[in-house]
Amino acid sequence: MKNNEAVKVVNVTKDFYLDKQKKISVLKGVSLTAKYGEFISILGVSGSGKSTLLKCISSLSEPTSGEVIINGVNPYNLRDSKLSKLRREDISFIFQSYNLVPALPVIENIALPYVCPIKKWISIRLQIC
Ligand SMILES: Nc1ncnc2c1ncn2[C@@H]1O[C@H](COP(=O)(O)OP(=O)(O)O)[C@@H](O)[C@H]1O
Ligand SMILES: [Mg+2]
Repeated sequence: MKNNEAVKVVNVTKDFYLDKQKKISVLKGVSLTAKYGEFISILGVSGSGKSTLLKCISSLSEPTSGEVIINGVNPYNLRDSKLSKLRREDISFIFQSYNLVPALPVIENIALPYVCPIKKWISIRLQIC
């Protein structure tokens, strides 16, 4: 992995099984590289696999085959504690319509886990309870 590669996706496939007989192949060998500072848009008609690809790239859904590398690390090879750390420190998720704090603008929703580390969250939760 070269140093300027933030995300590398190599030949990723993702299949869903509706039942034993019926398989949907959504991603069929996707490869891409995102360099640090690069802004990338993924375009496609509804149902073409954009969300599926983003979930695979962002450590939320393991590809059926192929490899995802974030900051030089394959998230699907990490144990839970390391994966949680990677998700908190190296990835920002902004969901389309859920898991948002409604009172905050988009940028603050993205930055929230970074500016409020896990120990503070626990302390805030304890205070609320
Ligand atoms: N968990 C799932 N189980 C079965 N099929 C799924 C699942 N998630 C997505 N799909 C199917 O994969 C295809 C791509 O979906 P999606 O990635 O949500 O597309 P997009 O975000 O481009 O609209 C659709 O046919 C969708 O029904
Ligand atoms: Mg989508």
